[in-house]
Amino acid sequence: MLSELLLIGIQGLRQQSTIPLHRQLYDVLKRAIADGRLAPGERLPSSRTLSKDLKFSRNTVIASLNQLIVEGYLCSRTGSGTYVNESLPSHSCVKQKIAHTQCRPSLSKRGEKLATTFLATDHEVQPFPPGVADFSAFPIALWQRLQNKHWRMTYPAMLDYNASGGHAPLRRAVADYLRIFRSVQLDVDQVIITNGSQQSLQLCAKLLADPGDTVWIEDPAYWGAIKSFMANDLTLYPIKVDADGIAPTEEDQTHQPRLIYTTPSHQYPTGSVMTMARRQALLQMADRHDAFIIEDDYDSEFRFTGHPLSSLSGLDRNGRVLYMGSFSKVLYPGLKLGYLIVPKSLVQSFKLVHYDLNRPGQLPVQAALAEFIELGHFTSALRKARASHCLRRQCLLELLEPCLKLGAIISGAEQGLHLCLHLPPHMNDKQLTEKIAQKNILVRPLSAYCVARTDIKGLIIGYGYAPLSGVHEFGPILVQVIVDELKK
Ligand SMILES: Cc1ncc(COP(=O)(O)O)c(C=O)c1O
Repeated sequence: MLSELLLIGIQGLRQQSTIPLHRQLYDVLKRAIADGRLAPGERLPSSRTLSKDLKFSRNTVIASLNQLIVEGYLCSRTGSGTYVNESLPSHSCVKQKIAHTQCRPSLSKRGEKLATTFLATDHEVQPFPPGVADFSAFPIALWQRLQNKHWRMTYPAMLDYNASGGHAPLRRAVADYLRIFRSVQLDVDQVIITNGSQQSLQLCAKLLADPGDTVWIEDPAYWGAIKSFMANDLTLYPIKVDADGIAPTEEDQTHQPRLIYTTPSHQYPTGSVMTMARRQALLQMADRHDAFIIEDDYDSEFRFTGHPLSSLSGLDRNGRVLYMGSFSKVLYPGLKLGYLIVPKSLVQSFKLVHYDLNRPGQLPVQAALAEFIELGHFTSALRKARASHCLRRQCLLELLEPCLKLGAIISGAEQGLHLCLHLPPHMNDKQLTEKIAQKNILVRPLSAYCVARTDIKGLIIGYGYAPLSGVHEFGPILVQVIVDELKK
C-alpha cells in the first residue's frame, strides 16, 4: 500500500534530474507525512522492500529514511522497523513547519517575484532543451594548453581588476568578428567584455533606465531578459511577436519605452526573423521615443539556410542600439564571457560603472580566448559545431514531419539551436510538456514564455544538446507523444 502511494509521487522523480534521488525520495516521503497520507504510528516497509518496489538502490532508500529519522519525522524501533513518529504534532502543524522551513521569510517583494516567476529549468541531462549547445565537443586539451601558456606569461597587471572594458586583444578579436560577420560598425573602444548576457543586460538596465521606466519586451520573450529588467524594477510592457518579429501597434506606442529588448535575427523563442522594414521602423520608433534598443544576437553564429540579415546595430545611425553577444553557444556556457557593444557617447560611463559594480577581471582567461580566436580555433570550433548541429536539426525536422501533417507548424529552424513547433491554440502545451517529461525528455511549452498573450501554443525544441544518436533515439519517442496528442 505504502509503496503504491509512493510510486505515484515517484513517477514525478527523475533518474536524470540534477537533484539526487535520495533527496527526491526524502521530499516525497516528507510531503506524504505532511499531507497525512502517512499517518503517525504507521509502519514503513523495510528498506529492502522499498528498494525493490521503487527500483532504487538500497543505499538511496536508507539515505532518505535516515535523514527523516534525524529530522524527527520517522523513528526506528530496533528489531521492529521504521515508523512515522507518533509524537509528531497534528498534520496541519507539520505542514506549517515544512512550509516554514521552505519559505523565504526575509525576501523583498522584488526578491519574491524573482524567486517565483520565469524560472529557468534544469537542462543538464535530458535531450532537447532549447538554447543549449553540445559543449562536449569543446577542444579541452587545446584550451588547457592556451590557458597554461597565458598563466605562465602572466604579469601582475593581468591579475588585477580591469577598467578598460576587457583585455585589448580580445576586444580587438570581437570587433573584427562582428565587423565581418554581423556588419556591426564599431571601434574597438566600444567593446566591453562582460561575464555573459545577464551582466550585459544588467548594465543596460541600470545605466539607461530608472525604476518604473517602461521596457518593451517581446511576447513571448527570453526569461533571462525579463529577470534582469525585473531585478531593476522596470515596468515590463509586452509587445506581440509575429512571423516578422516584434510588432508594436499604435496602441503599444502610447506606452513610451525607455528600453526596447529584442532578438531580431532569431526571435527567442519563436525563431522569427525581423524583416528589414520592421528593423527600420523599430529604429525610427527608438528615435521618436528617445529610447535605446538592446539587440540580443545570441545565436546568429548558427545559420543553416538562407542569407543572414545584417544586425540591427549595423543599421543604426543615431547611437540607439546596444548590441550583445555571448561565447556560451560556440564555446561553453561556464566560460561566462560575453560582450556588449555600446554607442560611442556611452562608452565611458559604461566602463566606469562596469568597473565599480562588477570589478571585472579574469584577464589571463580573456588572453587565452583572444589567442584561441586569433589562431583560428574559434572559427574551426564554429565550423564543426555548425556541421554537427545541422545534422541534428535535419534529423529532427524529418522526424517531426508526421506532426506537420496533423496541423503543427514549424518556425525558426533556419538558425540557432532550437525550433518552435506551433500547435493548435486549443491544445495545452504545458500538459503536453509534462507528458513528454515522463519519457525523460525536456522540451518547453511556448506558453511558458508568454508574458500577456494566451493565443499561441507550441513546443520549443532544442537540437543542440543531444548528440545525433540522441536525436535518433529520443526523437521518435518525442514525436509519438506529440502525434498522439494532435490526433485527440
Ligand atoms: C535569448 C538569449 N540570450 C542570451 C543567451 C546567452 O546567455 P549567457 O551569455 O548568459 O549564456 C541565451 C542563452 O540561452 C538566450 O537564449
